[in-house]
Order: sequence, then C-alpha cells, then structure tokens
Amino acid sequence: MAKPKRITKAVFPVAGLGTRFLPATKASPKEMLPVVDKPLIQYAAEEAVEAGAELLVFVTGRNKRAIPDHFDRAYELENELATQQKDKLLQLAQDILPRSVTCVYVRQAQALGLGHAVLCARPVVGDDPFYVILADDLIRAQPGVISQMRGVYEQTGASVLAVQDVPRSETSKYGIVETDGFDGDRGRIVSMVEKPAPADAPSTLGVVGRYILTPRVFEKLEQTGRGAGGEIQLTDAIRDLLSEEAAWAYRYTGERFDCGSKLGYLQATVEYGRAHPELGAAFSAWLKEQE
Ligand code: UTP
Repeated sequence: MAKPKRITKAVFPVAGLGTRFLPATKASPKEMLPVVDKPLIQYAAEEAVEAGAELLVFVTGRNKRAIPDHFDRAYELENELATQQKDKLLQLAQDILPRSVTCVYVRQAQALGLGHAVLCARPVVGDDPFYVILADDLIRAQPGVISQMRGVYEQTGASVLAVQDVPRSETSKYGIVETDGFDGDRGRIVSMVEKPAPADAPSTLGVVGRYILTPRVFEKLEQTGRGAGGEIQLTDAIRDLLSEEAAWAYRYTGERFDCGSKLGYLQATVEYGRAHPELGAAFSAWLKEQE
C-alpha cells in the first residue's frame, strides 16, 4: 500500500441547535461552554493540532460569532493586559493556537444534520482525507483520541471511526456499527445504522465524536437524503461508502464526557476541576467536605 496522504485538515461542525442546553445555547453555540477555564471548542482544536492539523475548518451556524472571536487576536484585551504587565494572562489570551495554524469558517445556513454540516466543508477540504471532531464529546486521553486514530489511518489508509461499548438501552442515542470482529483495538466495519432502537441494533458499539474520513465521503453525502430524525446523517454516508472502501472502528483509550448533555457536562466540570493544575487540590478538598 502506498503511504497514505498526511492529514492536515480538521473539520469542527458547530452549527447544531444545542436544544438540550437551552437557554444557555440561545445566543451562543454549546461548543463555547467552558469546562473550568477553556471552551469545549478549544479542547477540540488542541486535540486536532496535536494530531498534525494545520487548517481548522469550523462549520458554524446562526450563533456564529463567538467561535471566530475566540480564535482571533483580541487586540484591545491584549493591549490592556500588556499595559498592566499581566504577562501570564497575556500569554493565555495569545496562545489559543500556534501561529502556524489557520482557521477557516464555513456557514451551514440551516441545521440539516451532521452529515450536511460536514458536506459544507467540502470546498475547503477538497480531495484530502480529514479529521472530524465533535467538540461536545470531550475525551480525556493521552495522546488525544484523534492522534490515536491517526495511527490506524497510517496503517490502513482508510476511514477510522472512534467507538465505545454503550448500554443496549442507549443505542438510540448513537450511530451503531457492526464489525467482522476485533483485532486488538480495531475492527473492520461491515454495517452501520444511525440511532437504532435497542431491539434493532446490530451491536452495542456506538460511534463517538471522532472521525477520520477519506474525501470520497463527500460524494456519498451529496446523495444522502434525510435519515433518522429527519436529518442528513453522516452515518448513512459512511455506510454507503462501505461497498467501495474499508472503514475501521477503533476502540479508543480515554475517558469521554458527553458535554451535549447537562449531566455529562457537569461530570466533565468536576473531573477537569479535580485535575486542574491550580485549582485541583482546593476543589478536591471542597468536594470531599460536601460528601
Ligand atoms: P447533536 O446531535 O448533538 O445536535 O449534534 P445539536 O443540535 O448540537 O444538539 P441538541 O441535540 O439539539 O441538544 C452533533 C454535532 O453536530 C453538529 C453539532 O454542533 C454537534 O457538534 N451539528 C449538528 C451541526 O453542525 N449541524 C447540524 O445541522 C447538526
């Protein structure tokens, strides 16, 4: 097999309505919710950069402004901090991303689904393989999950989807994959279905918000109609790809927090708070007092 193309592009679909988090998401995307002191989207961007991404493509929606503002320079704030000689804070405001990384913003005019959001990135991604990261799936892992998956891509040249075992009662919250078995942490996908009822699920392996995709998925997305929930589903396009290309399920190593749900978000806040370099000790002591 020829060496697969190096991946340098990452797509962040951030145009969902975030209805489970209303009213917090009324005027600001859920990906701007902070876990301790960083918005979810920054954790996601850092994970992509760690895996070699140089071009970050944000697919934004109606509440678009906060995300570009976050990744832009904030000259007024920086001047103020510099004048006050608050060097540490200045560095925090400036070092959001390495200077070599470029951000591009694409608009999804209507929230027609995750598959449609990914298709909106096509003019920027072109004919290259790419990462997709859903920032509301926060995964604590060392190295990051997308770096782990890059290893599988480099060996196979194929699409890779991060999966985890989910309770059967929860299959209707996930895309569910069926594999022809597992060799260590990976298995070749033979079929997929979006949000099946527990009785119809072909397995209990749920896809989480990390994907490595080959550009052929765009051709499939062009032809994908509305699926589960009336949305254009990424799962349906990847399933259509399976007759032409291999795709792998990868059981990641890490701890995932579903920050699209209030409970998962609170759990992430507690766990990241406990592990925080400055606050961790005091916060853990306080938590202990509450028991
Ligand atoms: P979700 O399924 O979590 O939907 O989207 P949502 O609209 O964000 O949230 P709820 O369910 O109403 O609370 C999964 C990911 O796909 C993006 C979301 O931003 C999220 O990162 N997405 C979803 C889009 O970018 N566009 C869409 O049309 C739908």
